Amino acid sequence: MKLKVVEDYQAMSRAAADLIIDKVRMNPEITLGLATGGTPKGTYQNLIKDHQLNGTSYGSVKTFNLDEYIGIPIRDPNSYRYYMNTYLFDHIDIDKSNTFVPRGNAENPTEECVRYENSLLVHGGVDLQILGIGRNGHIGFNEPGTSFSSKTHIVSLAQTTREANSRYFPRIEDVPKQAITMGIGTIMKSNEILLLISGERKQEAVKRLLTGEVHESFPASILNQHPNVTVIVDHAASALI
Ligand code: GLP
Repeated sequence: MKLKVVEDYQAMSRAAADLIIDKVRMNPEITLGLATGGTPKGTYQNLIKDHQLNGTSYGSVKTFNLDEYIGIPIRDPNSYRYYMNTYLFDHIDIDKSNTFVPRGNAENPTEECVRYENSLLVHGGVDLQILGIGRNGHIGFNEPGTSFSSKTHIVSLAQTTREANSRYFPRIEDVPKQAITMGIGTIMKSNEILLLISGERKQEAVKRLLTGEVHESFPASILNQHPNVTVIVDHAASALI
């Protein structure tokens, strides 16, 4: 893993956006794997700014999102489809029919998982996957204990994850209990991975990622075995290493 330690959230967001912009310019037909959560918001803002100022085009780019809640309508502000439209897609020249997010409201979520995994394969897989990390080491919504070889599947969210994400919902009871997520095996098939980590709350996770053993009890640890991972971490998150 290549580790890049930067000053703060803003610097992380700029460095991440610069890397993504370079890749998009080199390969305008790139397939990006995208993440949600608080961490990549600043990166997406920088992509938008660059698109407006320098004209980087996403006209031929495809995107596959990591995950989506089950049981939330697409138009609900807490759905990840809504997040992606609001924080990125509505502000760049991407063709929305080239943007894929698991359908958390599909009639048959199990079939949706198979469909999503296949559609990823049909489109040639992810070239560059952007990832955040949960405090318990989850990537996408792959909670501790998930098989390293898992494909897109349905997960029950850990109580700690529901609590962490409850800041976006009126009440903790409103946070969905299940989600669809790309599996760890799916994520590991990406050609390249960019992991973004910011803030004091992630210190333990950074320490365990960089110094702990590779074990299913800490999903992100498998990234140590991927041949092309860049981790951009800010000072606050890297304080224990
Ligand atoms: C969520 C998302 C993950 C994200 C993680 C961290 O549960 N499903 O993809 O990486 O939490 O979120 P944040 O960036 O808000 O800390």
